[in-house]
Amino acid sequence: MTQATARAYPNIALVKYWGKADEALIIPVAGSMSMTLDDYATTTTVRLDDAADALNLNGTELDHTDSATQRVGAFLDIVRGLAQERGLDTAAAHAQVTTVNEGPTAAGMASSASGFAALAQAASAAYGLDLDTRDLSRLARRGSGSACRSVINRFAVWHAGDSDETSYAEEIAAPDLAMIAVTVASGAKKVSSRAGMRATAATSPFYRAWITTTEESLNEMVRACADADFTRIGEITEAHAMRMHAVINACEPPIRYLAPASYQVFDAVAELRANGVEAYATADAGPNVVVISRPEDAEQIAGALGQYAENGEAKVLRPGPGAHVVNADDAADAAGATA
Ligand code: PMV
Repeated sequence: MTQATARAYPNIALVKYWGKADEALIIPVAGSMSMTLDDYATTTTVRLDDAADALNLNGTELDHTDSATQRVGAFLDIVRGLAQERGLDTAAAHAQVTTVNEGPTAAGMASSASGFAALAQAASAAYGLDLDTRDLSRLARRGSGSACRSVINRFAVWHAGDSDETSYAEEIAAPDLAMIAVTVASGAKKVSSRAGMRATAATSPFYRAWITTTEESLNEMVRACADADFTRIGEITEAHAMRMHAVINACEPPIRYLAPASYQVFDAVAELRANGVEAYATADAGPNVVVISRPEDAEQIAGALGQYAENGEAKVLRPGPGAHVVNADDAADAAGATA
């Protein structure tokens, strides 16, 4: 096959990934756990051709010196390396990559996760690699760590591992959940997660404690999922998110991803709980807040939190599928729908 189109969705971590043990291979300092969403998809087509690698992002042809083009090119080099190991005659080919994000790019809605999961799936298919889920997850990880979890259906645990072989995500059973996304600002974030992680490792005095507590949170989260204990899942999620922002805030110079509006949402969620509605909040490396709830409470919570969203509406999300190849007609429809 010389062309393939794939679709993948962002994921939101309940136990967060923040910090690399190996920068080049993207091996994290601790494992993490997430839900793959059912909206804000990325659809990516990889077409092999003889020209140089090229990237079209959301309808704009990017220059080859653009950092996004270079990051995609470096990722394609890894794919070509795998093709070469297997003696495939595609190994020397360049690729035209066309990608459309249905969600906000680089604003804490995990567009890099859906982006590299879709790219890993489309590129591995176009180059003729027939990867199983574990190997696809390992490959996506090389593009952006959290992308390894977007390869997985519904709920994923990323095993930190200590090598390229042993660091991958896999599906785990968890009780049915809803997420309510409160997008308080859709602009790009000021400090990339890559730079923020580096600064945290280099300057935050709480970094060691963060690593230990993340391992403990993950073990507890896996138990709570197995017990289908929604309350415990929620409590771990919110405490863990605050700990991530605490270790980041403690950098020198300080880094702050949460905005005043983000804290308003955390307060509103605490108030919902005080009134008997179980909801728990989390936030990635940006100001947007994502709330988890039981599915039957989600619409009520979205109604209560819409006032904090930039566009006046909080969005209910549900567990979604892992990265998958789609046929060319479906992809054209998806791209057309957002054009
Ligand atoms: O994979 P990256 O480099 O986009 O880092 C993601 C980091 C967080 O979103 C803040 C946490 C996580 O586990 O998704």
